[in-house]
Amino acid sequence: PRVIFIDADGGQFEADVPVGQSIMESAIDNMIDGILGECGGVMSCATCHVYVAKEWQAKLEPAEEREEDMLDMAVEPQENSRLSCQIEMTDALDGITVYLPRSQF
Ligand code: FES
Repeated sequence: PRVIFIDADGGQFEADVPVGQSIMESAIDNMIDGILGECGGVMSCATCHVYVAKEWQAKLEPAEEREEDMLDMAVEPQENSRLSCQIEMTDALDGITVYLPRSQF
C-alpha cells in the first residue's frame, strides 16, 4: 500500500509501505523530511506528528488516551492530528494522505 505525504509547501511524495509498518517508519525509510520519530515509535516524543487528510480520518482507529496526551505536546495540533508511529499500514489504507507540519519543534 502507498502513503502520500504532502509537505507544508505543498510538495508531494509517495512511498510504498509494507503492511504492518508504521507511517513514521516508512517516512524515515524514505527520507521524508518533516517526520523525525525521535522516540522510535513509543509515543514519547510527538515528533512524528502529522495531519491526516479528512477523508482518511474515519478509517483509522481512534487515538488512545496516551496518543491524545502526546498530541497536546505537538506543534499546532489540530482536530486531525495523529502520531504517525501509531498508524500501522494495512491494505485498506492504500493511498492514505498525510500532511506534514512545517516544524516538529
Ligand atoms: Fe515518537 Fe511517534 S515516534 S511519538
